Formats: sequence, C-alpha cells, structure tokens
Amino acid sequence: MSDLIVRNANLPDGRTKIDILIRDGKIAEVGHGIEATAREEIDATGCLVTPPFVDPHFHMDATLSLGLPRINRSGTLLEGISLWGELRPILTREALVERALRYCDLAVSQGLLAIRSHVDTSDPRLVTAEALLEVQEKVAPYIDLQLVAFPQDGYYRAADGVASLNRALDMGIGIVGGIPHFERTMADGAASVEALCRIAAERGLPVDMHCDETDDPMSRHIETLAAQTVRFGLQGRVAGSHLTSMHSMDNYYVSKLIPLMAEAEINVIPNPLINIMLQGRHDTYPKRRGMTRVRELMDAGLNVSFGHDCVMDPWYSMGSGDMLEVGHMAIHVAQMAGIEDRLKIFEALTTNSGKTMGLEGYGLSKGCNGDLVVLQARDPIEALRLKANRLAVVRRGKVIARAPRRVSELFLDGRPASVDGAAYAPRPATAD
Ligand code: FE2
Repeated sequence: MSDLIVRNANLPDGRTKIDILIRDGKIAEVGHGIEATAREEIDATGCLVTPPFVDPHFHMDATLSLGLPRINRSGTLLEGISLWGELRPILTREALVERALRYCDLAVSQGLLAIRSHVDTSDPRLVTAEALLEVQEKVAPYIDLQLVAFPQDGYYRAADGVASLNRALDMGIGIVGGIPHFERTMADGAASVEALCRIAAERGLPVDMHCDETDDPMSRHIETLAAQTVRFGLQGRVAGSHLTSMHSMDNYYVSKLIPLMAEAEINVIPNPLINIMLQGRHDTYPKRRGMTRVRELMDAGLNVSFGHDCVMDPWYSMGSGDMLEVGHMAIHVAQMAGIEDRLKIFEALTTNSGKTMGLEGYGLSKGCNGDLVVLQARDPIEALRLKANRLAVVRRGKVIARAPRRVSELFLDGRPASVDGAAYAPRPATAD
C-alpha cells in the first residue's frame, strides 16, 4: 500500500484539483483523480501544495543565542561580529547542539526541510564544527542540512584562519566559505577568493562566500569570485551570498559585471531581512536599501534564491524560520510587486534555492522525493501575502508536522461568524 495520497491540490504552476500519490518515500503519481488508496490521505481542497521551503543561507551555530552575552545595542553588522567574538570562547558543544535542534524543530513546523548553514571556523577549538556535524547527522531524517566552513574573522585576517578552515573541511564540512570584504585589504580579499576557490577545486567541493556585504560600491570581490570560478572550472558550483555592494555600484560597471557572473553561473543569495536591517547604516538620508539587484540578476538568467541568514542572534533579533517572511520582504525591498514578479519570488524560495543547494529529487514530479507542504492559501501569491499557515508538512511520505486552520471567530451583529485569512483574499484563486 502507498504511504500517502494528497487530494485536490493546487500546485505552484497553476494546476488545480491534482492528486499526489507517494509510495516508498517517493512521488509515484501526479494527476487528476488518481485511483489508489494509501495509509494516509490529506484533503487539500482549495489549498496550495508546494515542495518544501529551502533556506540556502543560515547561521545555525549562532541561532537562538539572542542576548548572549549581551544585546547588540547599535544593531549593526560590525557590533554583531564583535558580540559574536565575545560569545564564541564560551560556546559549548552541548549548548550549540541544543539550540540548533530547537531551531530545526521550528524549521520543520514551517515546512523548511533543507538548510545551508555557515559554520564559523575562526575559533581553533572548532567546537562549532563538531556541534553542527552532530546536528547534521541527527536531523538527517527530516532536514537536508549542508554546512559551509566560514572564516567569520577572515581567512587571512584571523591568526588561525587558514589552518582552522582547512581542518573543518577535513572534519567533513562540505562547502568552502569566505568573507573577502572583511579581510584587511582589497588585495587580501582577492587573494582569499583565489585561495578558497583553489581549495574547492582541489577537494571537489562547492563554494559559498559571504561576498561584498557592504555599502561600499568599490567592494568588487564578486568580480574576482566570478573570474576565479571560471578559471578553476567551478561554474554552477559557486554561490555569492549577500552581494549588497552591487546595490551601490556604478551602473556601467554592473553592466559588465552581471554577464561575467552569468558566465560563471554564480548562484546569487540575497538575504532581504538582514540586508534591509544592516545596510545603509552609514547613510543619513536618503538611506540605501542595500539589497543586491534581484530583478536585473534574474533577468540575466542567474539563479537567485533567498536566505533567512539569522534568527534571534547577535545580528538579528527577529525571525521565525518562515521563508515566506523572507520572500515577503524581498517583494518589498526589490519592488517586485507584479504577478509574475511575485511568482518568481516564490520560485526563489523553493525551486531556485533547491538548485543552489544541488538538492537531488526536489520537486513535485513523479520520481521526486515524497516531500511537500500543504499551505492555508490558494496559490503562491496568496501564500506570500499571508505568510500562510502550514497545515501539513510531509517528508518521504510521512506527515512530520501539522497545524489547525487559522480561523478567527467573530462576534459582530450582521457579520459572518468567522474569518479565514485565506478565504478573505479579494483576488480570485487560480482559474479552475
Ligand atoms: Fe550570513
């Protein structure tokens, strides 16, 4: 007998009344009126069913540490980095694992089943790497967790930066990180990009760098990253995270840069919540938004996906593991309000980020993993607008999280007895 059948789903591509049958953890059939029985059945009538959300940029070693050892008073990136430097020496493996597992519980409830986390390798104890490798193994049944060796204090700038990063890779961290804009000089930044791409090529690993997370329009490490990607034959395996300096760059320069990035098949990962919170801090007014050029990069054919980056840590005191909140902010900051625009933003939270992470078997086609989320919304646009409730989260054909419909009772004369957020939308659902 099959594991699960979902009936009458609306799919992100606009199809409606679709059944999805999952057998042996894989999607066995997708179509209208599937005649089959399964151990469990979900009636998704009127609801959007989507592949799980994917977060391609997160910091699981810092998450849920808000207030330890103190609050970030200025709320800036640089105070966040120094605050993290105060916390790092007193981190224990047990506390790191406990916090990360608690975040993963939250992620599952939000239908977030794949996460790429940077792991700070600056402390030569590498307790962060030990802890996150343990977490990676523990959550494997329900979350695809990828880990990036991330030299937060600089690959060259920190005394043990080079040795620690390489040891973290030896321990089994599978992606090479970097932070070229935080090295002492532009030249050191460029040298770090070359060295780190060389390591990735030699070890056969992907690259994901924090790159140009600054308002300085002359921070141009993404150019070097794209060039070294081509030089080392790493096309498609390299991600540039943040790229906020592109917001402030000269337009002529960008017209040359974006084709170079396209040639290198760079995966672009803006982090809208963090970028709008941390960039523009040296501006009075007008204040820059500090998010990279999402529309232009998408138009040039680059794979753009969005990261959450932080939840309740030294850099960001907000967040809830909700990728729809990330997309909601992206729509605003990128000013992508059209129907097609918002559909592209939804795709960036799912399909594009699955591509960034190189997830196998991702999607809702026959043969894909039996992973999906049922949302209390009729279509992707409504899901983004409402930051929709996750009614059910399925992993390999098994329901691993469930929530009741969000409905408010009303006690008003002459008005309906209840309001359901989804049904309240004035826009018609996708045509039947
Ligand atoms: Fe980050």
